[in-house]
Amino acid sequence: MSLLSVDPLSVVFPLRTGEFTAVDQVRFSLEAGETLGIVGESGSGKSVCVSCLMGLVPSPPARISGKAMFKGVSMLDAPAETLRKIRGKEISMIFQDPMTSLNPYHRIVDQIAEPLRIHEGLSRKQARIRAVDAMEAVGIPEAEKRSRAWPHEFSGGMRQRVMIAMAMITRPALLIADEPTTALDVTVQRQILDLIKTLQREHGTAVLFISHDLAVVADVCEHLAVMRRGVMVEQGRTADILRTPSHPYTRGLLNCHPALHQAGDPLRVMPELLESDSPGAP
Ligand SMILES: Nc1ncnc2c1ncn2[C@@H]1O[C@H](COP(=O)(O)OP(=O)(O)OP(=O)(O)O)[C@@H](O)[C@H]1O
Ligand SMILES: [Mg+2]
Repeated sequence: MSLLSVDPLSVVFPLRTGEFTAVDQVRFSLEAGETLGIVGESGSGKSVCVSCLMGLVPSPPARISGKAMFKGVSMLDAPAETLRKIRGKEISMIFQDPMTSLNPYHRIVDQIAEPLRIHEGLSRKQARIRAVDAMEAVGIPEAEKRSRAWPHEFSGGMRQRVMIAMAMITRPALLIADEPTTALDVTVQRQILDLIKTLQREHGTAVLFISHDLAVVADVCEHLAVMRRGVMVEQGRTADILRTPSHPYTRGLLNCHPALHQAGDPLRVMPELLESDSPGAP
């Protein structure tokens, strides 16, 4: 049984002018410890798709149909209480803009500790100790001292590290990252991607990684799915798709990506993927 299996999922929004199908019969699955990237242009339905899995798309007005199973639980019609237990403990989510997800009136340490208090019933003191450890694990310098700071005292990159610490503190089986680095400059983006990869490896967490940036997704994920206008037009191993994209839209994404295009060789920026995939490689 897959950790997560979506087979299929559709989301329709009723609009004044008619109906709009944001997600159209999308199918994918994710095994424990696996990394799957969903890439696609703005408005292609990536966020709606993963938000549905977390029960974050209000229905009504949205009409959600299909099947999405996580560890045998149906995420589309489980009772609110069951979803609450899964959310933040077994499935964690990080978003593009950490400022909107952090409470400006709570100290950093208490926000990181909150999932432990809710899901593991730890005392404030015990949870704070674990939170400071988690801050160290995500590379926040002087974690003990800085743990008592407020969100506005942290830079964008540090706030994203806080979000990751919070997301990972309950050792979730699945981390959903929706454009986690889009708001960050390239150097910080690099560090955050490396951090997600390291944590994924160390904890064996499955990762569902969403981005409009093919190079970013290809860097983090072994498997790739391409979405366009609500439809998943292509999916498979990242290395295979980069080598031989079958859908014209994927070919377009590959061709027009500046970083991939630069050297004339679209695969140049992913040497490790190709090495591990080339015949005779260990
Ligand atoms: N509550 C809603 N009511 C109506 N339409 C919506 C609603 N939420 C999202 N949509 C529409 O669904 C489509 C898919 O949105 P979604 O946010 O999933 O796109 P996305 O692929 O995540 O894009 P981006 O890369 O910009 O984040 C968009 O056209 C959006 O306008
Ligand atoms: Mg989105």
